Amino acid sequence: MQTVELNNNTHMPTFGLGTWKSKPGEVHQAVQHAVRAGYRHIDCAWIYGNEAEVGHALQELFLEGVVTRDQLWITSKLWNDRHAPQEVPQGLRETLQNLQLTYLDLYLIHWPVALRKDAPRPLRAEDMIDLDQMPIAATWRAMEQLAQEGLCRTIGVSNFSVPKLQALCNEARITPAVNQVELHPYLQQNELHAFCQRQNIHLTAYAPLGSRDRIEALKTEDEPVLLDDNVIATIAQKHGATSAQILIAWALCRNTSVIPKSVNPERIQQNLAATHFVLDAEDQRRMATLDRHRRYVDGTFWALEGGPYTLANLWDE
Ligand code: A2P
Repeated sequence: MQTVELNNNTHMPTFGLGTWKSKPGEVHQAVQHAVRAGYRHIDCAWIYGNEAEVGHALQELFLEGVVTRDQLWITSKLWNDRHAPQEVPQGLRETLQNLQLTYLDLYLIHWPVALRKDAPRPLRAEDMIDLDQMPIAATWRAMEQLAQEGLCRTIGVSNFSVPKLQALCNEARITPAVNQVELHPYLQQNELHAFCQRQNIHLTAYAPLGSRDRIEALKTEDEPVLLDDNVIATIAQKHGATSAQILIAWALCRNTSVIPKSVNPERIQQNLAATHFVLDAEDQRRMATLDRHRRYVDGTFWALEGGPYTLANLWDE
């Protein structure tokens, strides 16, 4: 399994299994199948509501001797209602308990959005806290503390724009190693990609297949379907591959890591096989033309009326 050396000298497998939207009842066998097939990186988060089942699957794999803990890379994410520095250790403790692990390989601040404690899914603006009142830098110091204590080997962020990364880097003692963002040919994020390369912050691509299984409320009518794209289908045909495999190969050839979600054994296998595909310069040129700044996870759920967050201040666009 190919790895990338992060800015703290740890080695992260560049291909992993996404678990967002994997339902309890499905994610257990998905993790088991993936690890048995050769996956060594599992991407989790507290808010996915399925960490306990992922943990159960991992325990069984350890007990059966399929893999050892140190052969896996496990990522999870601090939820938005735990940004207060005194809440950060508890956020990680809950995740570790759910996953039945003693440490994570990577712990990320899930969103640059702060919520009141125990209001994890806010419906009212009053449940949201302005970043001026709950600065990311203070949350980050608590994350740094967790890293120093060895509870997570590496720390990073998710859904951060260039200005937010820059501001954090200016204040951080430990530079974030990873920024996990939505990234695919319809949202290529070239500026962010270049910035991260310059700063030695690794980018991980979430929703690399266009995340069609997200809930209806997160979809818009007539949205373009990445997996149905004609250019991608043509390139796939040329390589004797599927469109999903081309999307995975594209992410890897840009030196980003990629975490496609699947709970289907054949597709789990198929996605892993994509790590062997190489896109040539002509394929890459054609893929580059597909950019259309299309967010499938656009963050409108944080832009509650009367609240501190807007799409403009969330993405700094
Ligand atoms: P399933 O879990 O049934 O395989 P993303 O990673 O962008 O969030 O996309 C996940 C969606 O893509 C899920 O609906 C998942 O369905 C589907 N998917 C995963 N792998 C493939 C594949 N190889 N071909 C087609 N669809 C896929």
